[in-house]
Amino acid sequence: MSEKKTFERLPKNVVPKNYSLRLQPDLKAFTFAGNEVVTIEVTEATNKIVMNCLDIVISMASYTAADKSSTPTITYNKEEETTTLTFPEALSVGTGDLTLEFTGELNNKMKGFYRSKYKAPNGEERYLACTQFEATDARRAFPCWDEPAVKATFEITLVAPKDRVALSNMQVTEKKPCEKDADLVEVKYGKTPIMSTYLLAFIVGEFDYVEATSSDGVLVRVYTPLGKKEQGDFALEVAVKTLPFYKDYFDIAYPLPKIDLIAIPDFAAGAMENWGLVTYRETALLVDPKNSSASAKQWVALVVGHELAHQWFGNLVTMEWWTHLWLNEGFASWIEYLCVDFCFKDYDIWTQFVTSDYTRALELDALKNSHPIEVAVGHPSEVDEIFDLISYSKGASVIRMLHDYIGDEDFKNGMNHYLSKHQYKNTFTEDLWESLGKASGKPVNDVMSTWTKQMGFPVIKVTAEQKGNNRELTLTQRKFCADGSAGGDSLWMVPISISTSADPNKAAVKIMLDKPSTTVTIENVSADQWIKLNPGTVGFYRTQYTPEMLDLLLPSIKDQSLPPRDRLGLINDMFALAKAGEVSTVEVLRLIDAYKNETNYTVWNDICSTLGSLSALLLHTDYHDNLKAFGRNLLSPIADKLGWEAAEGEGHLDSLLRSMVLLRLGRFSHTDTVSKAKVKFNDHTCGKETIPADLRGSVYHSVLAHADEETFKAVLKFFREQELHEEKERIMRALGAVKEPALIKQVLDFSLSDEVRSQDTVFVLTGVVGSKDGLEMAWKFLQEKWDVLHRRYEGGFLLSRLVKNCTEGFATEDKAKEVETFFAAHSAPAAERTIQQSLENIRLNKKWLERDSDKIKEFLSGSS
Ligand code: BES
Ligand code: ZN
Repeated sequence: MSEKKTFERLPKNVVPKNYSLRLQPDLKAFTFAGNEVVTIEVTEATNKIVMNCLDIVISMASYTAADKSSTPTITYNKEEETTTLTFPEALSVGTGDLTLEFTGELNNKMKGFYRSKYKAPNGEERYLACTQFEATDARRAFPCWDEPAVKATFEITLVAPKDRVALSNMQVTEKKPCEKDADLVEVKYGKTPIMSTYLLAFIVGEFDYVEATSSDGVLVRVYTPLGKKEQGDFALEVAVKTLPFYKDYFDIAYPLPKIDLIAIPDFAAGAMENWGLVTYRETALLVDPKNSSASAKQWVALVVGHELAHQWFGNLVTMEWWTHLWLNEGFASWIEYLCVDFCFKDYDIWTQFVTSDYTRALELDALKNSHPIEVAVGHPSEVDEIFDLISYSKGASVIRMLHDYIGDEDFKNGMNHYLSKHQYKNTFTEDLWESLGKASGKPVNDVMSTWTKQMGFPVIKVTAEQKGNNRELTLTQRKFCADGSAGGDSLWMVPISISTSADPNKAAVKIMLDKPSTTVTIENVSADQWIKLNPGTVGFYRTQYTPEMLDLLLPSIKDQSLPPRDRLGLINDMFALAKAGEVSTVEVLRLIDAYKNETNYTVWNDICSTLGSLSALLLHTDYHDNLKAFGRNLLSPIADKLGWEAAEGEGHLDSLLRSMVLLRLGRFSHTDTVSKAKVKFNDHTCGKETIPADLRGSVYHSVLAHADEETFKAVLKFFREQELHEEKERIMRALGAVKEPALIKQVLDFSLSDEVRSQDTVFVLTGVVGSKDGLEMAWKFLQEKWDVLHRRYEGGFLLSRLVKNCTEGFATEDKAKEVETFFAAHSAPAAERTIQQSLENIRLNKKWLERDSDKIKEFLSGSS
């Protein structure tokens, strides 16, 4: 493993006040030229200015104050990503202008100022220039103080070919022909409010747009590829509803005159909240009325909701340092659901939160190699590392728990207090707790510190004793560990709600568990009534019941009188307990039987993910087929009920359910599903009958899972004919379903070919890990191509994702050793924690099999 890099923040003796920055990208030579005049304040006399700078060459530098100019020598420190300007004499305290001229490359790494390739309507390949600065890559575009707390104002000028669109954070204030070149224009933008460097954005390219003005008077535009305007309509509708929603929620107006949402063909993340100019992957913004699936639309709504929330939470008020990144991401990942719930009630999006964020966070956070939400970070590689499920999904989950604990009214008031008090400034996590504490009168800081400063979460063990008409419960908390170990003496302040069968939707009792153990009496409960902890599955903990308490709950699962989020939480807890060896896996497989009449999409989604994890584990056994049979039996009835055709007037969730069930049945080699998929695919590709967008992903999976060379070629041909990126992505994600080693090899090679954008390589490559051969081959491929991949992503989160997916599915000590040995020799600073997590998972898998395999085998052979 590589050494931790030493790191220091920039000195504070010189601070920027305003940058006047001019940039001129060259879309043919892939370079850019820039100059800037930074008005700085020298707060302590010094002869050195240290600023961030990476992969930029400074050709001229001078400092002018009080009519005196001085020229520094320039040195670079690549490790620290800085440049130091050393002046012959100390600069005196006061303000002055630092002038720099520089050049750089429009790189192809999707960071800093970079190029992105697209096809013009005439078929020609062209490039646009755009930026991605978060977390620490503004320094690749211009020398600057690239830390979130060093806020300044920016006056931007872009020089662009006159037939291109040139955009930045603010509105255009002036556009004139360039004096030196008649083919160029010089575009000036309004001065920004005081802001952090990571939120700047510059784009020069060709786009169409649709626009509207929101009810609160903000001009909103959605920029699409040329000729694809209508694909911006859905996002525009969401944005126009969302802006006033946030304005009302925060009770603060959107602070800029305009906001643009723009789709970039090469984009590493899903989207980026640049102030006033939000950038997106095409699949996170564009909706094609004819060819987009319900889940793609839902994803667009969530991402738009997420990035627009950052315009206040993150952009107006910004974390002081990356240690508090979770404030940004956890909060936005929570409120995006509030926003989508407001815009699209029929999505039942809060239930989906439980599978998309809450359970995934619990799973990761049970590992010894998790980390606290608030984590000390320094060097950029450590910063990259925390854009993970802990910051996002655990962050969102603890905010949801807090919102439930203090109530919407107080939460809203607290938010307004926080945003008003700290606007145009920076904050620590405690500042948010202070505002919410003030608004609610509750000990928010005490409660929340236990969730953000220590890693992990508790499992609450419940025992019950009937005493006449009352039930006396004993609740005990201890840290939940994925390996079932004791977990030390961490304690949380856990807001606990308890419901009973008298009213499954409401808490009968609420308490704060702030010690290891307590007793609670629930009054007026008869011996045959059930009692459940955590109604709505909002508390960030797992629950372990006695077998008797669990038995009482079973009928309410079967008749669905237990609400969906509770049904989901219960089975998910049980599965986690099984993985940890606290209950037997067979017990959970038996419990699944209570869900066979389930109708809720999200509950099914969770059960299917559970079966998916189990399937990944049992790949290493000789009875994997028995699990597939179990899956077929379980899903056939609901599949029969849903059919392949959408029923008249059916809703969003029915579409999601149908496509998910058919996808899983295809994976479980369900004969009817697979043969029908083949027919549909042929009809679709020869133009006889179009498959509805919602079913395409499932069909592609089934077809590829049983593909021979010829079918595989047909799919690739079909891929090449697609224009809509969503469609291409659907195919790319399905390619890895192939089973023949020769085809798997082709998929792996394809993932690095010119036909797959770097942003999508991970989908293609990790698609293959669902089979035993595929997993083995993907891991080999990752090692063989390590240098290429490492260079391609320069660390970064895409590489971490790749490492995770190609390693964590193994289940032997030998494999763990192999992974360890490889990364000991091949450093991956931004993936270090991921590697440790994978090793831990491999060893957990091994133990799980040792413990439960015989019993699972026996159970599955009996049931199929
Ligand atoms: N600020 C992030 C974008 C980002 C991610 C920058 C990673 C640098 C590294 C943005 O707000 C974000 O969180 N985007 C999410 C989508 C969201 C809906 C969860 C993403 O990109 O996945
Ligand atoms: Zn975000």
